[in-house]
Amino acid sequence: MNTRRDFPENFIWGSATSSYQVEGAAFEDGKGPSIWNEFEKGHTAIMDNGTGDVACDQYHLYKRDVAIMRDIGFDAYRFSLAWSRIFPEGTGKMNPKGIDYYKRLCDELLANGIEPYITFYHWDLPLALQQKYGGWQSRECVKYFADYVAETAKALEGRCKNFFTVNELLGCVDQGYLNGICAPGLRLSKKEHNQVRHNMLLAHGMGLQVLRDIVPDARVSLAENPVFFTPVLDTPEHVDAAKRAFREVNGHFLTAIMEGGYPDSYLEAEGADAPIVQDGDFKLISAPMDFLGLNIYYGKLVRYAPESEKKYEIFNFDTSSELPECSVIFQPAVIYWGCRIINELWKPKEIIISENGLSNMDLPAADGEVYDIFRIKYLRSYLESMSRAIRDGIPITGYLHWSFLDNLEWGSGYRRRFGLTFVNYRTLERIPKLSAKFFKELIRTGRIA
Ligand code: BGC
Repeated sequence: MNTRRDFPENFIWGSATSSYQVEGAAFEDGKGPSIWNEFEKGHTAIMDNGTGDVACDQYHLYKRDVAIMRDIGFDAYRFSLAWSRIFPEGTGKMNPKGIDYYKRLCDELLANGIEPYITFYHWDLPLALQQKYGGWQSRECVKYFADYVAETAKALEGRCKNFFTVNELLGCVDQGYLNGICAPGLRLSKKEHNQVRHNMLLAHGMGLQVLRDIVPDARVSLAENPVFFTPVLDTPEHVDAAKRAFREVNGHFLTAIMEGGYPDSYLEAEGADAPIVQDGDFKLISAPMDFLGLNIYYGKLVRYAPESEKKYEIFNFDTSSELPECSVIFQPAVIYWGCRIINELWKPKEIIISENGLSNMDLPAADGEVYDIFRIKYLRSYLESMSRAIRDGIPITGYLHWSFLDNLEWGSGYRRRFGLTFVNYRTLERIPKLSAKFFKELIRTGRIA
Protein backbone atom coordinates (compact mmCIF):
# COMPACT_ATOMS: atom_id res chain seq x y z
CA MET A 1 0.00 0.00 0.00
CA ASN A 2 1.29 3.44 -0.92
CA THR A 3 1.62 5.63 2.17
CA ARG A 4 3.30 8.66 0.61
CA ARG A 5 1.59 11.81 1.85
CA ASP A 6 0.36 14.51 -0.52
CA PHE A 7 0.27 17.07 2.30
CA PRO A 8 2.48 17.72 5.30
CA GLU A 9 1.56 16.43 8.77
CA ASN A 10 0.94 19.89 10.18
CA PHE A 11 -1.26 21.09 7.31
CA ILE A 12 -4.42 22.86 8.58
CA TRP A 13 -7.65 21.29 7.32
CA GLY A 14 -11.07 22.74 7.93
CA SER A 15 -14.06 24.47 6.48
CA ALA A 16 -15.78 27.82 6.43
CA THR A 17 -19.18 29.46 6.84
CA SER A 18 -20.49 32.94 7.53
CA SER A 19 -22.94 34.29 10.09
CA TYR A 20 -25.81 35.37 7.84
CA GLN A 21 -25.57 32.19 5.80
CA VAL A 22 -25.80 29.69 8.68
CA GLU A 23 -26.70 31.20 12.04
CA GLY A 24 -30.40 32.01 11.87
CA ALA A 25 -31.76 33.47 15.15
CA ALA A 26 -31.85 36.70 13.21
CA PHE A 27 -33.64 38.71 15.86
CA GLU A 28 -33.01 36.65 18.95
CA ASP A 29 -31.29 37.54 22.23
CA GLY A 30 -31.00 41.21 21.37
CA LYS A 31 -29.44 40.90 17.91
CA GLY A 32 -30.00 43.99 15.79
CA PRO A 33 -30.93 43.78 12.10
CA SER A 34 -28.21 43.71 9.47
CA ILE A 35 -28.39 45.09 5.94
CA TRP A 36 -29.17 41.56 4.73
CA ASN A 37 -32.18 41.28 7.04
CA GLU A 38 -33.42 44.43 5.31
CA PHE A 39 -32.33 43.54 1.77
CA GLU A 40 -34.11 40.18 1.86
CA LYS A 41 -37.44 42.02 2.15
CA GLY A 42 -36.94 43.30 -1.40
CA HIS A 43 -39.25 41.50 -3.74
CA THR A 44 -36.70 39.68 -5.86
CA ALA A 45 -33.67 40.04 -3.61
CA ILE A 46 -33.34 36.36 -2.69
CA MET A 47 -34.55 33.45 -4.77
CA ASP A 48 -37.76 31.80 -3.50
CA ASN A 49 -38.14 34.67 -1.00
CA GLY A 50 -35.47 33.11 1.18
CA THR A 51 -34.50 34.80 4.43
CA GLY A 52 -31.77 34.34 7.02
CA ASP A 53 -34.30 34.08 9.86
CA VAL A 54 -33.56 30.41 10.50
CA ALA A 55 -30.92 29.43 7.89
CA CYS A 56 -29.14 26.35 9.36
CA ASP A 57 -29.91 27.50 12.91
CA GLN A 58 -26.28 27.10 13.88
CA TYR A 59 -26.99 29.59 16.67
CA HIS A 60 -28.87 26.82 18.47
CA LEU A 61 -27.31 23.74 16.91
CA TYR A 62 -23.64 24.65 17.15
CA LYS A 63 -22.81 21.74 19.45
CA ARG A 64 -24.22 19.30 16.94
CA ASP A 65 -22.19 20.97 14.21
CA VAL A 66 -18.97 20.92 16.19
CA ALA A 67 -19.49 17.20 16.85
CA ILE A 68 -19.66 16.59 13.08
CA MET A 69 -16.52 18.68 12.55
CA ARG A 70 -14.72 16.68 15.18
CA ASP A 71 -15.76 13.45 13.55
CA ILE A 72 -14.41 14.62 10.18
CA GLY A 73 -11.21 15.61 11.96
CA PHE A 74 -11.07 19.34 11.24
CA ASP A 75 -8.19 21.34 12.66
CA ALA A 76 -9.96 24.64 12.04
CA TYR A 77 -13.38 26.17 11.60
CA ARG A 78 -13.67 29.55 9.91
CA PHE A 79 -16.86 31.42 10.79
CA SER A 80 -17.84 35.05 10.83
CA LEU A 81 -19.29 37.17 13.60
CA ALA A 82 -22.59 38.94 13.08
CA TRP A 83 -21.54 42.44 14.07
CA SER A 84 -25.15 43.37 14.91
CA ARG A 85 -25.41 40.41 17.29
CA ILE A 86 -22.57 41.91 19.34
CA PHE A 87 -23.41 45.59 18.78
CA PRO A 88 -27.07 45.71 17.74
CA GLU A 89 -26.67 49.29 16.48
CA GLY A 90 -23.14 48.75 15.18
CA THR A 91 -21.73 50.86 17.99
CA GLY A 92 -22.56 51.73 21.58
CA LYS A 93 -23.25 49.13 24.22
CA MET A 94 -22.19 45.53 23.69
CA ASN A 95 -24.97 42.93 23.77
CA PRO A 96 -23.85 40.41 26.43
CA LYS A 97 -25.94 37.57 25.00
CA GLY A 98 -24.50 38.15 21.54
CA ILE A 99 -20.86 37.97 22.58
CA ASP A 100 -21.69 35.09 24.86
CA TYR A 101 -22.78 33.00 21.88
CA TYR A 102 -19.39 33.44 20.22
CA LYS A 103 -17.58 32.63 23.45
CA ARG A 104 -19.57 29.41 23.74
CA LEU A 105 -18.92 28.53 20.12
CA CYS A 106 -15.16 29.11 20.53
CA ASP A 107 -15.12 27.09 23.77
CA GLU A 108 -16.94 24.21 22.12
CA LEU A 109 -14.50 24.23 19.21
CA LEU A 110 -11.45 24.41 21.45
CA ALA A 111 -12.76 21.63 23.68
CA ASN A 112 -12.95 19.48 20.55
CA GLY A 113 -9.46 20.34 19.35
CA ILE A 114 -10.63 22.72 16.59
CA GLU A 115 -9.05 26.16 16.21
CA PRO A 116 -11.52 29.02 15.65
CA TYR A 117 -10.68 31.23 12.63
CA ILE A 118 -12.82 34.33 12.97
CA THR A 119 -13.90 36.65 10.17
CA PHE A 120 -15.02 40.03 11.47
CA TYR A 121 -16.92 41.15 8.41
CA HIS A 122 -18.63 38.80 6.01
CA TRP A 123 -21.07 41.31 4.50
CA ASP A 124 -23.76 41.65 7.20
CA LEU A 125 -23.30 45.25 8.27
CA PRO A 126 -25.52 46.46 11.14
CA LEU A 127 -28.48 48.15 9.48
CA ALA A 128 -28.21 51.15 11.80
CA LEU A 129 -24.79 52.01 10.32
CA GLN A 130 -26.21 51.85 6.82
CA GLN A 131 -29.10 54.09 7.71
CA LYS A 132 -27.12 56.64 9.72
CA TYR A 133 -23.90 56.85 7.74
CA GLY A 134 -24.48 55.23 4.36
CA GLY A 135 -22.49 52.21 5.49
CA TRP A 136 -19.01 51.93 4.00
CA GLN A 137 -19.52 55.13 2.05
CA SER A 138 -18.40 56.91 5.17
CA ARG A 139 -15.20 56.79 7.19
CA GLU A 140 -17.35 56.83 10.34
CA CYS A 141 -18.28 53.26 9.55
CA VAL A 142 -14.60 52.34 9.30
CA LYS A 143 -13.97 53.84 12.70
CA TYR A 144 -16.87 51.91 14.20
CA PHE A 145 -15.53 48.76 12.59
CA ALA A 146 -12.20 49.24 14.34
CA ASP A 147 -14.04 49.78 17.66
CA TYR A 148 -16.11 46.65 17.14
CA VAL A 149 -13.01 44.58 16.34
CA ALA A 150 -11.19 45.96 19.38
CA GLU A 151 -14.03 45.43 21.86
CA THR A 152 -14.85 42.00 20.52
CA ALA A 153 -11.24 40.83 20.54
CA LYS A 154 -10.94 41.95 24.16
CA ALA A 155 -14.18 40.24 25.13
CA LEU A 156 -13.09 36.95 23.56
CA GLU A 157 -10.23 36.87 26.07
CA GLY A 158 -7.70 34.97 24.00
CA ARG A 159 -10.06 32.26 22.77
CA CYS A 160 -9.08 32.96 19.18
CA LYS A 161 -5.82 34.02 17.57
CA ASN A 162 -6.44 33.52 13.85
CA PHE A 163 -8.41 36.31 12.27
CA PHE A 164 -9.70 37.54 8.94
CA THR A 165 -10.60 41.21 9.01
CA VAL A 166 -12.97 41.24 6.02
CA ASN A 167 -14.19 38.75 3.47
CA GLU A 168 -13.99 39.33 -0.29
CA LEU A 169 -13.78 43.00 -1.09
CA LEU A 170 -15.35 42.58 -4.50
CA GLY A 171 -18.31 40.73 -3.05
CA CYS A 172 -19.19 43.29 -0.44
CA VAL A 173 -18.24 46.44 -2.34
CA ASP A 174 -18.87 45.93 -6.03
CA GLN A 175 -21.93 43.71 -5.64
CA GLY A 176 -23.40 45.80 -2.84
CA TYR A 177 -22.60 49.33 -3.98
CA LEU A 178 -22.14 49.09 -7.75
CA ASN A 179 -24.39 46.47 -9.29
CA GLY A 180 -26.83 46.20 -6.40
CA ILE A 181 -27.17 42.42 -6.34
CA CYS A 182 -26.06 42.18 -2.72
CA ALA A 183 -27.04 44.29 0.30
CA PRO A 184 -27.31 47.22 0.60
CA GLY A 185 -28.38 46.99 -3.06
CA LEU A 186 -26.98 50.35 -4.24
CA ARG A 187 -25.80 51.50 -7.65
CA LEU A 188 -23.39 54.30 -6.93
CA SER A 189 -21.42 56.50 -9.30
CA LYS A 190 -17.88 55.48 -10.19
CA LYS A 191 -16.39 58.07 -7.88
CA GLU A 192 -18.55 57.09 -4.89
CA HIS A 193 -17.96 53.43 -5.56
CA ASN A 194 -14.18 53.86 -5.64
CA GLN A 195 -14.39 55.60 -2.28
CA VAL A 196 -16.28 52.65 -0.80
CA ARG A 197 -13.54 50.38 -2.11
CA HIS A 198 -10.93 52.52 -0.42
CA ASN A 199 -12.87 52.65 2.84
CA MET A 200 -13.04 48.87 2.90
CA LEU A 201 -9.26 48.66 2.44
CA LEU A 202 -8.93 51.01 5.35
CA ALA A 203 -11.29 48.89 7.44
CA HIS A 204 -8.98 45.94 6.82
CA GLY A 205 -5.94 48.02 7.80
CA MET A 206 -7.50 49.44 10.94
CA GLY A 207 -8.83 46.05 11.99
CA LEU A 208 -5.39 44.55 11.54
CA GLN A 209 -3.73 47.20 13.66
CA VAL A 210 -6.27 46.89 16.44
CA LEU A 211 -5.82 43.11 16.55
CA ARG A 212 -2.04 43.51 16.74
CA ASP A 213 -2.48 45.87 19.70
CA ILE A 214 -4.97 43.70 21.58
CA VAL A 215 -4.12 40.07 20.88
CA PRO A 216 -0.35 39.63 21.33
CA ASP A 217 -0.04 36.42 19.31
CA ALA A 218 -2.69 37.31 16.73
CA ARG A 219 -2.34 35.97 13.19
CA VAL A 220 -4.21 38.28 10.85
CA SER A 221 -5.15 38.42 7.18
CA LEU A 222 -8.15 39.22 5.07
CA ALA A 223 -9.94 36.58 3.00
CA GLU A 224 -9.70 37.90 -0.53
CA ASN A 225 -10.99 36.62 -3.82
CA PRO A 226 -8.96 38.46 -6.45
CA VAL A 227 -9.52 37.84 -10.15
CA PHE A 228 -7.12 34.97 -10.81
CA PHE A 229 -5.18 34.32 -13.99
CA THR A 230 -3.77 31.18 -15.51
CA PRO A 231 -1.19 31.60 -18.27
CA VAL A 232 -1.90 29.62 -21.42
CA LEU A 233 1.61 28.12 -21.26
CA ASP A 234 4.24 27.79 -18.57
CA THR A 235 6.78 29.87 -20.45
CA PRO A 236 8.40 33.04 -19.11
CA GLU A 237 6.54 35.44 -21.41
CA HIS A 238 3.09 33.98 -20.69
CA VAL A 239 3.73 33.70 -16.95
CA ASP A 240 4.94 37.27 -16.95
CA ALA A 241 1.80 38.35 -18.83
CA ALA A 242 -0.34 36.58 -16.21
CA LYS A 243 1.50 38.39 -13.42
CA ARG A 244 1.05 41.78 -15.04
CA ALA A 245 -2.63 41.11 -15.70
CA PHE A 246 -3.12 39.99 -12.10
CA ARG A 247 -1.40 43.06 -10.67
CA GLU A 248 -3.34 45.51 -12.82
CA VAL A 249 -6.79 43.94 -12.71
CA ASN A 250 -6.61 43.70 -8.92
CA GLY A 251 -5.03 47.15 -8.64
CA HIS A 252 -7.73 48.64 -6.42
CA PHE A 253 -7.77 45.75 -3.94
CA LEU A 254 -5.04 43.17 -3.41
CA THR A 255 -2.26 45.00 -5.27
CA ALA A 256 -2.95 48.15 -3.25
CA ILE A 257 -2.73 46.17 -0.02
CA MET A 258 0.42 44.26 -0.95
CA GLU A 259 2.25 47.24 -2.49
CA GLY A 260 1.07 50.05 -0.20
CA GLY A 261 -0.57 52.18 -2.87
CA TYR A 262 -2.69 52.13 -5.99
CA PRO A 263 -0.80 51.16 -9.13
CA ASP A 264 -0.48 53.82 -11.83
CA SER A 265 -2.62 51.79 -14.21
CA TYR A 266 -5.58 52.08 -11.80
CA LEU A 267 -5.07 55.76 -11.05
CA GLU A 268 -4.75 56.61 -14.73
CA ALA A 269 -7.84 54.61 -15.64
CA GLU A 270 -9.97 56.22 -12.91
CA GLY A 271 -8.65 59.78 -13.30
CA ALA A 272 -10.91 62.20 -11.39
CA ASP A 273 -12.95 59.27 -10.09
CA ALA A 274 -10.02 57.87 -8.08
CA PRO A 275 -10.69 57.73 -4.33
CA ILE A 276 -9.57 60.33 -1.83
CA VAL A 277 -6.68 58.92 0.18
CA GLN A 278 -5.73 60.51 3.48
CA ASP A 279 -2.24 60.64 4.98
CA GLY A 280 -1.42 57.46 6.79
CA ASP A 281 -4.12 55.35 5.09
CA PHE A 282 -1.70 53.17 3.20
CA LYS A 283 0.56 52.66 6.18
CA LEU A 284 -2.38 50.89 7.82
CA ILE A 285 -3.66 49.18 4.69
CA SER A 286 -0.32 47.67 3.74
CA ALA A 287 0.85 46.60 7.20
CA PRO A 288 2.36 43.12 6.90
CA MET A 289 -0.05 40.22 7.33
CA ASP A 290 0.81 36.93 8.99
CA PHE A 291 -0.64 34.91 6.16
CA LEU A 292 -2.74 35.59 3.10
CA GLY A 293 -6.26 34.14 2.97
CA LEU A 294 -7.37 33.37 -0.58
CA ASN A 295 -10.87 32.34 -1.61
CA ILE A 296 -10.22 30.46 -4.84
CA TYR A 297 -12.93 29.22 -7.19
CA TYR A 298 -11.97 30.01 -10.80
CA GLY A 299 -9.85 32.28 -12.94
CA LYS A 300 -9.28 33.61 -16.42
CA LEU A 301 -6.83 32.48 -19.05
CA VAL A 302 -4.29 34.96 -20.28
CA ARG A 303 -1.63 35.02 -22.97
CA TYR A 304 1.33 37.19 -23.83
CA ALA A 305 0.12 39.43 -26.65
CA PRO A 306 3.02 41.49 -28.06
CA GLU A 307 0.70 43.17 -30.56
CA SER A 308 -1.57 44.73 -27.92
CA GLU A 309 -1.06 47.88 -25.87
CA LYS A 310 -0.97 46.07 -22.53
CA LYS A 311 1.05 43.21 -24.00
CA TYR A 312 -1.38 40.64 -22.66
CA GLU A 313 -4.77 39.33 -23.72
CA ILE A 314 -7.36 38.05 -21.24
CA PHE A 315 -9.72 35.39 -22.50
CA ASN A 316 -13.28 35.29 -21.24
CA PHE A 317 -14.16 32.82 -18.54
CA ASP A 318 -13.61 29.29 -19.63
CA THR A 319 -17.13 28.13 -18.91
CA SER A 320 -16.65 24.67 -20.33
CA SER A 321 -17.43 22.43 -17.41
CA GLU A 322 -16.64 18.80 -16.97
CA LEU A 323 -19.32 18.90 -14.32
CA PRO A 324 -22.38 19.92 -16.33
CA GLU A 325 -24.78 19.10 -13.48
CA CYS A 326 -23.18 21.71 -11.26
CA SER A 327 -23.24 25.44 -11.60
CA VAL A 328 -19.51 25.59 -11.36
CA ILE A 329 -16.63 26.76 -13.49
CA PHE A 330 -14.31 23.82 -13.18
CA GLN A 331 -10.72 25.07 -13.32
CA PRO A 332 -8.55 23.19 -10.87
CA ALA A 333 -5.35 24.75 -12.25
CA VAL A 334 -6.40 28.04 -10.69
CA ILE A 335 -5.24 26.95 -7.23
CA TYR A 336 -1.75 26.25 -8.52
CA TRP A 337 -1.51 29.32 -10.71
CA GLY A 338 -3.29 31.70 -8.35
CA CYS A 339 -0.92 30.86 -5.54
CA ARG A 340 2.18 30.73 -7.74
CA ILE A 341 1.57 34.13 -9.28
CA ILE A 342 0.92 35.77 -5.91
CA ASN A 343 3.99 34.05 -4.47
CA GLU A 344 6.19 35.29 -7.29
CA LEU A 345 4.81 38.81 -7.05
CA TRP A 346 4.78 39.38 -3.30
CA LYS A 347 6.15 36.40 -1.38
CA PRO A 348 3.49 36.25 1.38
CA LYS A 349 4.72 34.50 4.53
CA GLU A 350 2.00 31.87 4.25
CA ILE A 351 -1.06 31.27 2.14
CA ILE A 352 -4.23 29.74 3.53
CA ILE A 353 -6.97 28.77 1.10
CA SER A 354 -9.80 30.38 3.05
CA GLU A 355 -12.53 29.13 0.67
CA ASN A 356 -12.86 26.71 -2.23
CA GLY A 357 -15.80 24.54 -3.19
CA LEU A 358 -18.81 24.02 -5.42
CA SER A 359 -22.57 23.94 -5.25
CA ASN A 360 -24.85 21.23 -6.50
CA MET A 361 -28.43 20.11 -6.03
CA ASP A 362 -27.36 17.30 -3.67
CA LEU A 363 -30.24 15.32 -2.23
CA PRO A 364 -30.33 12.15 -0.12
CA ALA A 365 -30.67 8.85 -2.01
CA ALA A 366 -33.15 6.13 -1.05
CA ASP A 367 -30.74 4.78 1.57
CA GLY A 368 -30.50 8.22 3.19
CA GLU A 369 -26.89 8.88 2.08
CA VAL A 370 -25.93 11.90 0.00
CA TYR A 371 -23.67 10.74 -2.86
CA ASP A 372 -22.16 14.05 -3.97
CA ILE A 373 -19.75 12.49 -6.42
CA PHE A 374 -19.21 15.79 -8.25
CA ARG A 375 -17.83 17.35 -5.10
CA ILE A 376 -15.43 14.44 -4.78
CA LYS A 377 -14.30 14.86 -8.36
CA TYR A 378 -13.89 18.59 -7.76
CA LEU A 379 -11.96 18.05 -4.54
CA ARG A 380 -9.62 15.51 -6.11
CA SER A 381 -8.70 17.87 -8.93
CA TYR A 382 -8.39 21.08 -6.92
CA LEU A 383 -6.41 19.37 -4.17
CA GLU A 384 -4.02 17.83 -6.73
CA SER A 385 -3.44 21.35 -7.97
CA MET A 386 -2.82 22.55 -4.41
CA SER A 387 -0.43 19.68 -3.76
CA ARG A 388 1.48 20.60 -6.90
CA ALA A 389 1.86 24.15 -5.62
CA ILE A 390 3.20 22.88 -2.29
CA ARG A 391 5.68 20.61 -4.08
CA ASP A 392 6.89 23.69 -5.97
CA GLY A 393 7.70 25.34 -2.64
CA ILE A 394 4.72 27.70 -2.44
CA PRO A 395 3.97 28.14 1.29
CA ILE A 396 0.34 26.98 1.43
CA THR A 397 -0.32 25.93 5.03
CA GLY A 398 -4.06 25.36 5.20
CA TYR A 399 -7.26 24.68 3.28
CA LEU A 400 -10.75 25.64 4.50
CA HIS A 401 -13.48 24.18 2.33
CA TRP A 402 -16.53 26.23 1.42
CA SER A 403 -18.65 25.13 3.01
CA PHE A 404 -19.16 23.02 6.08
CA LEU A 405 -22.95 23.06 5.67
CA ASP A 406 -25.41 23.69 2.88
CA ASN A 407 -26.50 27.25 3.57
CA LEU A 408 -28.10 30.46 2.37
CA GLU A 409 -26.23 31.33 -0.81
CA TRP A 410 -27.01 35.06 -0.73
CA GLY A 411 -29.28 36.07 -3.63
CA SER A 412 -29.41 32.48 -4.90
CA GLY A 413 -31.23 31.37 -1.77
CA TYR A 414 -31.18 27.81 -0.51
CA ARG A 415 -31.14 25.96 -3.81
CA ARG A 416 -27.40 25.93 -4.33
CA ARG A 417 -25.93 23.49 -1.86
CA PHE A 418 -22.25 24.08 -1.08
CA GLY A 419 -21.88 21.87 2.01
CA LEU A 420 -19.85 18.84 2.92
CA THR A 421 -22.88 18.31 5.16
CA PHE A 422 -26.42 18.20 3.84
CA VAL A 423 -29.05 20.29 5.66
CA ASN A 424 -32.72 19.40 5.57
CA TYR A 425 -34.18 22.90 5.86
CA ARG A 426 -37.51 21.57 7.13
CA THR A 427 -36.19 19.49 10.02
CA LEU A 428 -32.70 21.05 10.27
CA GLU A 429 -31.29 17.53 10.27
CA ARG A 430 -27.64 17.31 9.14
CA ILE A 431 -26.30 14.45 7.01
CA PRO A 432 -22.55 14.41 6.31
CA LYS A 433 -22.27 13.78 2.55
CA LEU A 434 -19.95 11.32 0.86
CA SER A 435 -17.54 14.23 0.41
CA ALA A 436 -17.34 14.61 4.21
CA LYS A 437 -16.14 11.01 4.34
CA PHE A 438 -13.66 11.73 1.55
CA PHE A 439 -12.43 14.71 3.56
CA LYS A 440 -12.13 12.62 6.71
CA GLU A 441 -9.88 10.14 4.91
CA LEU A 442 -7.87 12.97 3.41
CA ILE A 443 -7.20 14.39 6.86
CA ARG A 444 -6.43 10.98 8.36
CA THR A 445 -3.97 9.91 5.67
CA GLY A 446 -2.69 13.20 4.26
CA ARG A 447 -3.39 11.69 0.84
CA ILE A 448 -5.86 12.41 -1.94
CA ALA A 449 -7.85 9.21 -2.43
C1 BGC B 1 -18.34 33.96 -0.33
C2 BGC B 1 -19.32 33.04 0.31
C3 BGC B 1 -20.16 32.37 -0.76
C4 BGC B 1 -19.23 31.53 -1.61
C5 BGC B 1 -19.92 30.73 -2.70
C6 BGC B 1 -17.71 33.44 -1.58
O1 BGC B 1 -17.82 34.41 -2.54
O2 BGC B 1 -17.38 34.38 0.59
O3 BGC B 1 -20.08 33.73 1.24
O4 BGC B 1 -21.21 31.63 -0.25
O5 BGC B 1 -18.26 32.35 -2.21
O6 BGC B 1 -20.48 31.52 -3.67
